[in-house]
Amino acid sequence: MTHFVTEGFHHVTMVSADAQRTLNFYRDLLGLSLVKKTVNFDVPETYHLYFGDSTGRPGSLLTFFEWPHAARGRYGVGGVHHVALGISGETVQLKWKRRLKDHGVRVSGPYDRGYFCSIYFTDPDGQVLEIATEGPGFAIDEPAEALGQELKIPDSKRLPGERDESWIAAQIYPQPVPEITPDMEISGIHHVTGHTDDLDQSHEFYTVALGLRIVKKSLNQDDEKTLHYFWANYDGQRVLPSSDMTLFGWPEGSPNAREGTGQTHHVAYRARDEAEQLTWREHLESIGFRVTDVKDRKYFKSIYFRTHDGMLVEIATDGPGFADDEDASSLGSALCLPEWLEPRRDEIETGLRPTV
Ligand SMILES: [Fe+2]
Ligand SMILES: [Fe+2]
Repeated sequence: MTHFVTEGFHHVTMVSADAQRTLNFYRDLLGLSLVKKTVNFDVPETYHLYFGDSTGRPGSLLTFFEWPHAARGRYGVGGVHHVALGISGETVQLKWKRRLKDHGVRVSGPYDRGYFCSIYFTDPDGQVLEIATEGPGFAIDEPAEALGQELKIPDSKRLPGERDESWIAAQIYPQPVPEITPDMEISGIHHVTGHTDDLDQSHEFYTVALGLRIVKKSLNQDDEKTLHYFWANYDGQRVLPSSDMTLFGWPEGSPNAREGTGQTHHVAYRARDEAEQLTWREHLESIGFRVTDVKDRKYFKSIYFRTHDGMLVEIATDGPGFADDEDASSLGSALCLPEWLEPRRDEIETGLRPTV
């Protein structure tokens, strides 16, 4: 059997009720670059905004459909609970906490998760976000060359009951942070965490379908009755950044996620190129997934399928990338449409609420 190993996340797509509000939050407050302003190619009367690092590197991308009239989504089995963004270390994390709080965003943490340190908040639609430190990493409680071998019980000082919530809440950077300094830069997706009610089948999925490996078996550190498993691109030495998918294991029959605003719509993983994507598609079909035909998303090619839990998963090619129809120095500055929608530009632009 051909064995495919994704390099990690390509992008995560979420649902927003208001494109302008989403721009203000992700571009102006979090400092991500708007690397493409386009429409949802399947529903061209609605926006699709792409944020990421200044080049739109796969693994740094958060994208949003604007669905102004959609109901609020809900996390649950087959959905994403939160998306974590990476930063360098704990001082920088306190700067982010200060900046967010000064802009009226409620922030919890920093919580010492052992493998990294985390703060949590929500975007204006209610999507849960985390900002996590790069380290210290998964090798703190088992050898770097043998991760994920056995269940690791977190230190009780990190769990509710023993941890000092009032001390944690008081941790904050002492000065206001009106500007995002270079040290605060968000490096990309740190991890994505969802829910399943079948961890065994999830393990089968992430290892056999995507080629990830388990790198930690632990407990949800906010709810220690719940198992928490982590998979990533791991070669037995190194866990690749922007490749870590994690799941909380809920009891069988737990409620499913519901699509809508403030929820993740799908998670996309990287394929190197179109040839790899095609053979990957065959592999997925051979192990029982119903996979769409290859769709031309202009900046990459995509295939889609659903996991056993109902999560919509995409495999997207690394290229050609966002400089395909805009200069690399001015990404996101104009409304870009693929060739097949250009004839409808006037009608599409008239229907969209303008953003600045
Ligand atoms: Fe997390
Ligand atoms: Fe996508």
